[in-house]
Amino acid sequence: MMRVAVTDGMAKEAVKKLENAGCDVIQEFIEHDDLVNGALAEFDAVIVRSATKLSEEMMQAGLPRLKVIARAGVGVDNIDVDAASRLGLPVVNAPRASTQSVVELTIGHLLGSLRFIPRADRSLRSGQWAKKELKGTELFGKRLGLIGFGRIAQGVAKVAQAFGMEVHSYDPYLPLSVAKKVGVTMHKNVDNLFKTCTHITVHCNLTDETHHLINHKRISMMPGVDPFNLKCGNHIVNCARGGIVDEDAALAALNSGQLTSLALDVFEHEPVDPASPLLEHMNFHGTPHIGAATIEAQHRVGLDIAEAVLTVLHGGIADTTVNRDALS
Ligand code: MLT
Repeated sequence: MMRVAVTDGMAKEAVKKLENAGCDVIQEFIEHDDLVNGALAEFDAVIVRSATKLSEEMMQAGLPRLKVIARAGVGVDNIDVDAASRLGLPVVNAPRASTQSVVELTIGHLLGSLRFIPRADRSLRSGQWAKKELKGTELFGKRLGLIGFGRIAQGVAKVAQAFGMEVHSYDPYLPLSVAKKVGVTMHKNVDNLFKTCTHITVHCNLTDETHHLINHKRISMMPGVDPFNLKCGNHIVNCARGGIVDEDAALAALNSGQLTSLALDVFEHEPVDPASPLLEHMNFHGTPHIGAATIEAQHRVGLDIAEAVLTVLHGGIADTTVNRDALS
């Protein structure tokens, strides 16, 4: 019987799918030291979310039985993919399943920032009626800059356009024609995006190239006024990966007023230090990395990842194998 370790939880329909296919599914968090000491050697597959970090040592210790590493989600930054490739282990993920949920959270954060929803709620609960202080701005007519133009960014673009925003993007990996077809202005240079847009949302992976892509220099370039020359401030939302926004620079820009609002679902260090000065700033609001945390996304993520794992265990190649090229 195939044994599958599910270390960070998974939708019950997905567990059932694996069980119906004849797998013995063990749902239990495995501690770091146990992983290093060969806990995965008793399994044919391991399915993780973001809490479990898989190193070369841990994967090596799972051989020869371990056949596949699965990430129930999109980002594989908690898995040493290069090491998996060296060991001949496919790494599969579920890149499409949570798109809509992340799109909706991004828009939610944007609206929350512009209309002070979290701040208004905090002040209401503290007994204040701060009606005069909470004059927000509309999305309508503003210039939104999307960093990256993959599935999530394209979903955000669609909703933003429905709100009457003018959408721009920077994505060095995508042909300009993709954005042109949907009425999005593509910029060849990321600095131009910051010079043009008052609202920026992040939709790229964290890589050496994107680390601190949003920094002091680029925040300083943001215009703060809309196409009609009305003051609307500068706003940034990141529901992609921590580390793309330089949090120290963003906090300094909030303090100086160059940045009007910052909303983060992802942080340079997670969980966030409760003493972080960012949490004290009234124009910051955040959520604890819940972009994909919806019933629908987790249902789809689970089923997609179960399918990918079964494909590999049955000797096939899953179409969501992230290290396919390195393995062939
Ligand atoms: C993902 O990469 O799928 C998301 O960030 C959600 C998560 O890590 O749970």
